[in-house]
Amino acid sequence: MVETYSQHANPNMRRPVVKQEIVDFMRQRQAPVTDDLAVLESFAKEHNIPIIPHETVAYFRILIESLAPEMILEIGTAIGFSALLMAHHAPNANITTIDRNPEMIGLAKANFAQYDRRHQVTLLEGDAMEVLPTLKDSYDLVFMDSAKSKYIVFLPEILKRTKVGGVIIIDDVFQGGDVALDFSEIKRGQRAIYKGLQALFEATLDHPDLTASLVPLGDGLLMIRKKAENIILPD
Ligand SMILES: C[S@@+](CC[C@H](N)C(=O)[O-])C[C@H]1O[C@@H](n2cnc3c(N)ncnc32)[C@H](O)[C@@H]1O
Repeated sequence: MVETYSQHANPNMRRPVVKQEIVDFMRQRQAPVTDDLAVLESFAKEHNIPIIPHETVAYFRILIESLAPEMILEIGTAIGFSALLMAHHAPNANITTIDRNPEMIGLAKANFAQYDRRHQVTLLEGDAMEVLPTLKDSYDLVFMDSAKSKYIVFLPEILKRTKVGGVIIIDDVFQGGDVALDFSEIKRGQRAIYKGLQALFEATLDHPDLTASLVPLGDGLLMIRKKAENIILPD
């Protein structure tokens, strides 16, 4: 029994920002995951664990094969599904993934022991805020899939550790469509996330040394390419 995620967790994951029939089509028509990944995907579904949805999986397959990153950093491991997906499509990559939830860490460790056959994945335990400053490597690809209000807080540390030309992908940035609303329309419990995401957009979408794009897959991806060594973010 997995305790962390209840049936009512992550309501925004179930508020598609694209027409439901198109989402269904993308999920049904694009090739399913197989073997180990299929086992993990059904475990996540059974226990309501929020792994990347199938339309994002399909996009990651082609993106990661095309970018062929050698060094990948992920914030938000959960059970290790996206880390193992990236490992599968970037067989020469080293993947460092961070999580702070003991239950997810336990499940991820077991899954990496069983399925990370090329020993590509290193799991770092702890809050990303504490772990990020300790990282010595630079990365070609960073995937941020953790607490949404904190993306903007992690961004400076992430940018320092991203290579020039490297790509940062940030998941679930549409807040089920709330990001397009005025602050006054946002429910009290959602306001910290809303403010964090607006600050993230402010910092990245028009930045002269970043190329940024919002991609309507799942609850929205923000993709950022770093174009200069030192990125100065607005205060
Ligand atoms: C959406 S799940 C990750 C799903 C995974 N990327 C996948 O698609 O297979 C988010 C994970 O981020 C972790 N997390 C959230 N905030 C974090 C933080 N500040 N530091 C480390 N991990 C964090 C949670 O414990 C959770 O396991």
